[in-house]
Amino acid sequence: MTLHFPDTPAFTGFNRPARIEAEILDLEVEGKIPSDLDGTFYRVGPDFHYPPRLGDDININGDGMVSMFRVAGGHVDFKSRYVRTEKFLLESAARRALFGAYHNPFTDDASVAGKDRTTANTSTVFHGGKLFALKEDGLPHELDPDTLETRGRYDYRGKMTSVTTSSHPKIDPVSGEMITFGYEARGLATRDVALQIVDRSGVLVREEFFLAPYVSMQHDFAVTSRHIIFIVVPITADEARMKAGGPHWVFEHERETLIGIMPRDASTKDIRWFRSPSLGLGHVANAFSDGDKVYLDVSTCAQNIYPFIGNSDGTPFDRATGVPRLMRFTFDLGGNSDGFEAETLFDDFMDMPEIDDRYQLNAYSRGFFAIADGGKAALNNVGTLGVGWNTIAHVDLARRRMERFFIGPDAACQEPQFVPRRADAEEGDGYLLSVVTRLDREPHTELAVFDTRHIPDGPVAVARLPFRMRAAIHGCWVPGPGA
Ligand SMILES: [Fe+2]
Repeated sequence: MTLHFPDTPAFTGFNRPARIEAEILDLEVEGKIPSDLDGTFYRVGPDFHYPPRLGDDININGDGMVSMFRVAGGHVDFKSRYVRTEKFLLESAARRALFGAYHNPFTDDASVAGKDRTTANTSTVFHGGKLFALKEDGLPHELDPDTLETRGRYDYRGKMTSVTTSSHPKIDPVSGEMITFGYEARGLATRDVALQIVDRSGVLVREEFFLAPYVSMQHDFAVTSRHIIFIVVPITADEARMKAGGPHWVFEHERETLIGIMPRDASTKDIRWFRSPSLGLGHVANAFSDGDKVYLDVSTCAQNIYPFIGNSDGTPFDRATGVPRLMRFTFDLGGNSDGFEAETLFDDFMDMPEIDDRYQLNAYSRGFFAIADGGKAALNNVGTLGVGWNTIAHVDLARRRMERFFIGPDAACQEPQFVPRRADAEEGDGYLLSVVTRLDREPHTELAVFDTRHIPDGPVAVARLPFRMRAAIHGCWVPGPGA
């Protein structure tokens, strides 16, 4: 059988599969990589290994391709490897796709019934001395941090009984604990959610199950120094629909959005649910507690944020109500209301938040975002939201100010990664890394390095790959010995 990818949006242009497992010592560099920038930038994203079993697919159903930029002494080295998930290995042996639609096992080849469907393609985290690739429909996959070889699926020595864990764990900068959760935690379309806490040495010390108000795509959540915040948005799953060949997810605008808050030292039985008419939520920038108040900063839109998820009433996706803006939700735990206040902090189309990790879970004032500036050239048909990020932003939340840099036409940038200049640097003072793909001239992908004091001046250095990578989603920075 001839291998050929379809000529559809998920497989053409910016989204065309790259499928390159590379190892490059010393990337070509324009400008000067700061000599005090020392560490490794790990990322993972979907890159289809085989053409889709059902003729077409959505962008984010590709196999996890993990990549690393190792920066030290002014040099940048690069590696990329597919995550050897069970799905990847079975399909490689068969030399074709065996797994079908996103998160719908009823569309798979009968030979892979009951096998692990996760692509491990959404995020990386380094915790307890281990590097993991994550996707919310499965368990973590441990990777060798030097070679990127897959060590295997990881269940915390049998202690994690949930079948899922989130792509968005939070690490407490004080205790070193990793607080995370899994939804559909007891299997497909189950309401079960598992709160999971891993101590700083990497031991799962708590797994506690509860029932969500309804089965929802709980893509992100939040933690403060004192509270855990679960987010239930009206993107819902239904097993009967999946069995009929339909999608896992549908947006039901008539349902409420619910935000559940519990003290970290209490039981999930103590979750208090706050309510709102339906909202579409992107990613959490940060959250913090102050007295009886809990603050949650999250990119938010009025309705469905994801073009690849259909509306339950059959109406087409509406970008106008699907523009994510940074909002601050305020919850009063001292009052009796089950409502909350919502304030728009910035009006731009923005998501992919990044903050100074030393301020995670606590009051903070600096953030970094990817912006889709509608007033400037942008690529269409890019990534999860279908819109290319064309601007990198540094925001001062205390002053509500923003500095920004347009990365140029025919290009799209990805989630920024902040690295402090020194351990004792002021909040937000350091470097910002973003991977940029350029489709002009020779299409290629590059690592852009900004100094956060001078974002509008553009990158101080760019390290070029001699090829184009398919876009990743999330990543992490691991400091090196010289940091
Ligand atoms: Fe995400």
